[in-house]
Formats: sequence, structure tokens, C-alpha cells
Amino acid sequence: MENQKRYGHFDDQHREYVITDPQTPWPWINYLGNEDFFSLISNTAGGYSFYKDAKFRRITRYRYNNVPMDNGGRYFYIKDGDTVWNPGWKPCKTPLDFYECRHGMSYTRITGRKNGVEASVLFFVPLKKWCEVQKLTLKNESAETKTLKLFSFEEWCLWNAATDMENFQRNFSTGEVEIEGSTIYHKTEYRERRNHYAFYHVNAEIQGFDTDRETFVGLYNEFADPQVVMEGKPRNSHAHGWSPIASHYIEVTLKPGESKDFVFLLGYIENEQDEKFEAPQVINKKKAHALIAELDTTEKVDKAFAELNAYWDALLNIYNVKTGNDKLDRMVNIWNQYQCMVTFNFSRSASFFESGIGRGMGFRDSNQDLVGFVHQIPSRARQRIIDIASTQFPDGGCYHQYQPLTKRGNNDIGGGFNDDPCWLIFGTVAYIKETGDFSILDEMVPFDNQPGSEVTLFEHLKISMDHVINNLGPHLLPLIGRADWNDCLNLNCFSWDPNESFQTTENVSEGTKAESLMIAGLFVVTGKDYVALCKKIGKDAEAVRMQKAIDAMIEAVKKHGWDGEWYLRAYDFYGRKIGSNECDEAKIFIESQGWCTMAEIGADEGMVAKSLDSCKKYLECEHGMVLNNPAFTKYIYEYGEISSYPEGYKENAGIFCHNNPWVIIGECLAGRGNDAWSHYAKILPSYVEEKYQTLHKVEPYVNCQMVAGKDAFKPGEGKNSWLTGTAAWMWYTVSEFILGIKPDYDGIRIDPCLPETATDYTVSRKFRDAEYTITIHPNGQQKGVRSIVLDGSPVDGTVVPYAPGRHTVEVTM
Ligand code: BGC
Repeated sequence: MENQKRYGHFDDQHREYVITDPQTPWPWINYLGNEDFFSLISNTAGGYSFYKDAKFRRITRYRYNNVPMDNGGRYFYIKDGDTVWNPGWKPCKTPLDFYECRHGMSYTRITGRKNGVEASVLFFVPLKKWCEVQKLTLKNESAETKTLKLFSFEEWCLWNAATDMENFQRNFSTGEVEIEGSTIYHKTEYRERRNHYAFYHVNAEIQGFDTDRETFVGLYNEFADPQVVMEGKPRNSHAHGWSPIASHYIEVTLKPGESKDFVFLLGYIENEQDEKFEAPQVINKKKAHALIAELDTTEKVDKAFAELNAYWDALLNIYNVKTGNDKLDRMVNIWNQYQCMVTFNFSRSASFFESGIGRGMGFRDSNQDLVGFVHQIPSRARQRIIDIASTQFPDGGCYHQYQPLTKRGNNDIGGGFNDDPCWLIFGTVAYIKETGDFSILDEMVPFDNQPGSEVTLFEHLKISMDHVINNLGPHLLPLIGRADWNDCLNLNCFSWDPNESFQTTENVSEGTKAESLMIAGLFVVTGKDYVALCKKIGKDAEAVRMQKAIDAMIEAVKKHGWDGEWYLRAYDFYGRKIGSNECDEAKIFIESQGWCTMAEIGADEGMVAKSLDSCKKYLECEHGMVLNNPAFTKYIYEYGEISSYPEGYKENAGIFCHNNPWVIIGECLAGRGNDAWSHYAKILPSYVEEKYQTLHKVEPYVNCQMVAGKDAFKPGEGKNSWLTGTAAWMWYTVSEFILGIKPDYDGIRIDPCLPETATDYTVSRKFRDAEYTITIHPNGQQKGVRSIVLDGSPVDGTVVPYAPGRHTVEVTM
């Protein structure tokens, strides 16, 4: 049966997802690179590379939304007699005798077999190096000697990925390359303002090359049948303008049983201004030679690969759980943490749904991503906090996004998203709790990157809180601005012009009464953190001042934000309710239920329990909880983009996975472990792996941003995989609230919330200079720690105090 079809499976021992059929329902991709040089790679070797910034330093070209899908990448063509094939099946699509793609931790290995030849390519970016390694192993498994013709292929991007795709009147005349031995250099615009070039090298003698795309492919041919490959003869073309590419040609003879390695290297180099050239018009290749020399043998490459694996061993050893439930363990120990590193690196910039051109790093997105990553490499999280805070304005507002290369705020989108400032507290508090490093609060951080404007990071936190307090509406609830977390709830936009951006247009805002209950809840949650932090560092007066503001906010929510069975979502420009039983459509929204229950507003009055029950009743469906219910069936111009989506998609009643964990945490705080777990398992990839294969369609090893909701034409279809705040929130939820291991200023707070079926489990947690082995005995309880024994002695309360060294902790619920 069609819906029984499987495209792959998990291999936990190797921390890999193994794809066994190249024709996945959508390209299933992986990310290579950890800090500066990055690549996206699909299961058929499609994708591209860039240095730091997918817009400004795109190294290889990629065409989005192409026909066929995912066309273009790093391709190896093997011509064996009259048969031409690729190890990754595409682009020739010659049927293979065997195909396998293993996506692992920052590497991908693609293996194909055809007519007695095996070609296996290992792709990875070595630690701290600006290059992608492609180690190709060719093996003759047949009984006769094979003579093969091997062609490599990469297409250069003319650096700026945006203009590369539009400014052809210039682009077609600027392309430049150099060829030296087995290395093809791409140096477009190097003659003028660029001090960087790229190269594609192979550690073997070549018998030819091509650098001009039209010569290699042919104007009326395609990637599937490049004319040079079909003819089996390179033309040694030298690109001038048009579209420069890099293709090596190698003749390989293999005896029966013989195998050979070829190390291909796609590298990126920057030179000092006065060292750009070694002769007029000739680029200085010194650094390229040095980089090549570091990776020019199989041994060197294998060593670099072993280092990468050791790096991941260490990262994934920081938090490790053994529950005996493989599906849970593999997500917690491997894939969820891995996705968190990826979202930390890329925010929402570069995926197969994000073109890498428009979005840079989001202010709110990056703070949330950081919470999923801070335990892995705290020093990088620290730098990120400073970078983010540097895009703030003196009034506490901030740029909504910034570019990773320049670290400057993005003027195209600007600011005015009134939830943004609060997230800085969320991120910073997580960092300090993980590390105990309060010194970050004294760092001098500028406004809008202006030298001379520096104030302490603590001051940035303070003005973030104040930004909410200084922007309250008629119900004393936070004014929403352009939007809150839901970028599409644009209550001051009022647009009838399809050429206007919903998110940056404010046709009206003077006199607005549009207020957000989501920000109210967020303010209370982060405010409590802020108050605790102030007390911790002896700023008692500030703690008292802010506590008053929080109390007032709680009162405002209880008085003006409660609809009887759930929290309202917002008030519109005119002060009318949004997300109320009184509304015709979208009577209830998830964001305010999540944040107000996390803030425990009105818990004593029963509001929290009622709100959580309403989520189950109105939002929950087979695939998770939808964002709002019922879906909007028509465009409401007072509400903006949200109602522009067809029913069940994206912000209009899609299952926006990002916000499901908010409700799950609300459930955990309320002690409702069964409910928390059932919501969690619905969006946990390993739990619904079968569904991914045919219904969700996107990668089964990571969360996607959205699964089409119950009102959609095709409920259950997944979209926008990989780059979603869901990763960090799933991690935060399971590690801290379900399994209950929560870093705190003075130690680790232990407070699990479990389904009553949970059995004993052990978490090993490295924390600062200590390592705790924590065994939890749930005894059928959903919540409530009865006793904690640390190294044989009982502990008062639920915080295991921090002390360097190894410790054993026994927890009975
Ligand atoms: C954005 C987030 C936003 C969410 C909901 C995502 O695409 O990156 O910043 O909160 O959509 O609108």
C-alpha cells in the first residue's frame, strides 16, 4: 500500500538518519558547518554553501522553487562506458543498484552503486576551517578492470545571493576565474571591492576542466545531461562573464577490488587589502595553498572527520537521558539537540523554505534559539546575547532582525514588534543560569551598534522591561505595535494594497488601542525572572519596582484578559476583543493560553486549568494544537496577515509547532503530566515518524514549523522544516519541564512532570564544572518531588546545590 512506504530509518548507534530511497516526498536535507562556513545538503547532494551570511557571501548558486525541485548542487558524474550516473541519483536519475544517504551530526554520506562500481561521498566542513570537504571513494566491485571518466561540478554564485538572481545586465559581464593545476578559483569582483575568493580543488592530477557553464552543460541541455559529460570530453573552457562554474575531469582506472579516494575541497579565502594580488590581475593564493595542504590526503581528511565526531560526542554528552524508550531518548539525546545547534547558527535565514536572502537573524528568534543551545557552547551564546542587544534602541525597542555578517540591524524591516525586548531577558537569564557568569551583565553594549553609546547589558534588560511598561494601552495591557510573537497579527496595518508588507506597514497607529495578551503573559514570565535576577545581584529597589509592574499586569489580565473559559488574545485598534467567544471566528488563540498559563495568572481562581482544558477542547487535533479556532474564512483588514492565509495554514489555524510547547509547559506547571505528555508526543518527530514518511512529508528527524491544521484542505502536511523556534522550545520543555532538570543560579532544580506511566530514568548532566548523574523514581506520580538524596545525604527543597566534581542524585516522587 502506498501509505506503507518508508524512505528511511533512524540509526541511533551512529546518530544518523538513513535514507534508502532518493525519491523522498520532499528533499530531506542536512546542515554542514558549525561556525563560519556552512552548507545545506539534500539527500541527492543538492544545496549550496556560504560564508557566515547566506545573502552576502553565497559561495555556490542555488535556484529556489525550481523545476524539478532541488536542482543544482555538488554533483559527481561518473561515465562508465555509455552509462552516466551520480552517487546521489540526481541529476542524471540513472537507476542505481544501491542508494543510501546517511545524514549525521554535521556530515552527510551519500553512496551509490552502479554496474559493479561503488561511489561513496562523505561531505563535511572541518572544525574551524573555511571549506567543505567532499571525500569521494570509488571502488571497483566487479571482476573486470574499470576505466571511468569522472566529472565534478559546482556552480559559483556571484556572492550576493539577491543580486545574483536579478541583476543580469551586470552579472553576465563580471564573472572571473583562474585555473592553477587542479584548482579552479572563483574571483568575481575581486578586482574591485571584494577581498575574498573561493576555490574548488581536488587532490589528484586532472586531465581537463571546465569553468564556463554554457560550455559544460550546453545551452539546450540540462544538469541531467551536460554535453561535456555526455561526450566524455572536457573542453578546458575559461569563463569570462556569463556563469562561471568549476568542473574537474579525471580519468580513473580501477582493477577488480581496487578503490581510490579523491578529496575535493570547496574553500573560501579572505586576504588583507595590501596582499590581495601576487601579480597584476593574479590573486594571492597563499592562504588557499595552505588550506589545501591541510586537507590533501585521505589521512588528513579522516583525522579532521574524527575531530568533528569527537566534537559532537562532547556536545551530546552534556545532557543525556536513559529512559529505555528509544523514541524519546533519540530525540532528547541526538536530534533535538542537533536541531538546536542548527537554529542557533541560522535563525530563520537559510533552509529549503527560507531563501537565505531576506531574513537574517531575528531578535526574538535568536533569543529563543539560544535557550536550546546555551548548554552546548555557552561562550557562543554569550557573544550572541551581546550581538543581539547591540541592535537595541535607547528606548528599549530594537531591530526585528540583523545580518550575521555585519551584525547591523536590518533597515528593511525595522523595529516596532513589541514583544521583542522581553526576549532579551529570556535569553540572558538562561545564559546566567547555565554558566553562573553574572559578569555578562556588566558588559558594555551599544545601541544600534553606535560606538560611544554603550551602557551595561543589565541596563539593556532594564529598558527592555520598561519598554513594555511605557507602552501600555487603555486596559493597561501591552500595546502590540506591529505585531507580537505572531508576526501576522498586524493590528495597526489596515492594508488593502497587495503591494504593502503586512509586517512593516502601519497605515494607522496613532491612537491605537491594540493590546496583546501574549505580551502580557510574556512580560509576567520574563518579569519574574528579572525580579529574581535583581534580587540575586542586590538590586532590591529595582526588584520591588518591577514586582509592582508585574502585579499590575496580572491584575490587568484577570480583569480585562479573561473570557470566561480562556484568555483573550488581544484588543484591536478600536478596543474590540480578539479571541473571544463573542467573535464570529477565531474565538480562541493558543499564544495567550500558553503564556498566561506559563505565567500562572489566575491559577488560584481556576483560570489556568480552564484555559488548559479549552486548549484540549478547541485547539487539539490529531496532529497537535492549532493556533486558533475556528479558522478565519475571510480577510479581516483590521487584523492583517493572519487572516490572509487560507484556513488551516500557517498563522491561520495551522499547527504552528513553536507554540505547542508553551501550553505543554503550562500543563507541566499545573502538574498535569498526562496531558503534557500527550501534547508533546503528538509533535515529537520520532513518535510520528510514520506520519512524516507520507503525510508530513518533511524530514522525520527534526521538527518543522508548521503542520497543516484540522481546517486545512490537506490536514497534516508539514512545511518549513528545520529553522523553527520549535527546536529550542521542544528542548526546553522536555529537558527542564518534563524530565525536570532545570539549571538555576545556585544549582540544578529538579522538578519533573511526567505521565503516570513513566518508569525510572537517569539523566547525566554536565553543569559548569560538575557532572550529575540523576536517577528519578516517578512511582506513578505525575508531579511532586518527595525527596532528593545527593551523594548519600538528603537535600532540602528541590535544588541540588552546585559544587564542582561528580555527583549522584536519587530523586523520589
Ligand atoms: C518567525 C517568528 C514568528 C513566527 C510566528 C516565524 O516565521 O520567525 O519570529 O514569531 O513566525 O509568526
